[in-house]
Amino acid sequence: MSTETFDAVDVIRTKRDGGTLSPEQIDWVIDAYTRGAVADEQMSALAMAIFLNGMDRAEISRWTTAMISSGERLDFSSIVGPGKKLATADKHSTGGVGDKITLPLAPLVATFGVAVPQLSGRGLGHTGGTLDKLESIPGWQANLTNERTLEMLGSTGAVICAAGSGLAPADKKLYALRDVTATVEAIPLIASSIMSKKIAEGTDSLVLDVKVGSGAFMKDLAQARTLAETMVALGADAGVKTSALLTDMNTPLGLTVGNACEVEESVEVLAGGGPADVVELTVELAREMLKASGVDADPAEALADGRAMDVWRKMISDQGGDPDATLPQPRETHTVYAESSGVLTRLDALSVGVASWRLGAGRARKEDAVQAAAGIRLHAKPGDEIQKGQPLMTLMTDTPERFGRALESLENAYSVGETFEPTDLILGRVETN
Ligand code: URA
Repeated sequence: MSTETFDAVDVIRTKRDGGTLSPEQIDWVIDAYTRGAVADEQMSALAMAIFLNGMDRAEISRWTTAMISSGERLDFSSIVGPGKKLATADKHSTGGVGDKITLPLAPLVATFGVAVPQLSGRGLGHTGGTLDKLESIPGWQANLTNERTLEMLGSTGAVICAAGSGLAPADKKLYALRDVTATVEAIPLIASSIMSKKIAEGTDSLVLDVKVGSGAFMKDLAQARTLAETMVALGADAGVKTSALLTDMNTPLGLTVGNACEVEESVEVLAGGGPADVVELTVELAREMLKASGVDADPAEALADGRAMDVWRKMISDQGGDPDATLPQPRETHTVYAESSGVLTRLDALSVGVASWRLGAGRARKEDAVQAAAGIRLHAKPGDEIQKGQPLMTLMTDTPERFGRALESLENAYSVGETFEPTDLILGRVETN
């Protein structure tokens, strides 16, 4: 006879029929799934029932807490900088194309005496992963012990490293299952997945960059706002000061999409240059993080005068990387030329993200390796005047047999017209009242 408190079938049936799961049912199902007492096929059915019928605020909050309880919690409360305890501020993006913002942002915020723990992941699918980008720097190591992470936060002020396997193990198992059962895009499941890891990480404050558009999970603003509100409420419930920016992801960020090329562009931004959209988003997110940490200062000036570069160099060398090393260059390139003259009115983030992924910058399965030099350099962005025959983008890879499939993804990736209506990069902001 089973010694389990609940029967998985009853839990699934409750949600299938549109009911509300009790706190005890939620605690049990997350724990039992992590232990293997609830089978993958049962959790798949429950995830689909949640996808179709949703969860209320109390259910999402309890589900998040149960996932946090499945693993360890980090404690950054002991981080001491020169003479005082440091506030910790973290940023999380829901994932986009050309989204390298963490790289300039973490050192920038650290220059103001706020500690920035960026426990990051690798990319899966068309959105790139921060660790994949940084691993293109010769010698750089993503894995740190918790003790070393704390030490670096105290001495350097910022650390970008792999999230250890001890944080929210229930989410790791559930996310892999959602990935193969078409249940990733459920707002309660995305919100609890992201926030369980961020709350377990123990930061004082958190800024969310919720992407909206073709290259994002959330294709429209209303959906993105609901996701942002759900996550901000979960942060507040857990005592983490949380706010969110809703930002455009219909076109790639910056002029590079891939790994090494995105590091190069981030270094340009840290040196006071770089594309305007990358600079704007870095500064806006830094403002949010500084405000949440009680620091009244303007990050725009600090980015423009290059002072965050020292933190960047130390952050990279602390993890074995050589900040002066030449980054890997692709063995093969292929240029796409404009077929007509006019104004570039559209450059689709999803198409470019998928092309970069097919060139080898991303992985299809989590065990795949990525190519450091693979990706795409853009030579024009929406709003730019272009001439027929002008280079529009350069595709880069070490394996030229990949060009064909990447080019297929770019077939309808851009439009040329006569007039261009600029759109805002920052589409909204959400915080608790
Ligand atoms: N990122 C996560 O960590 N979880 C999700 O569910 C979606 C994006």
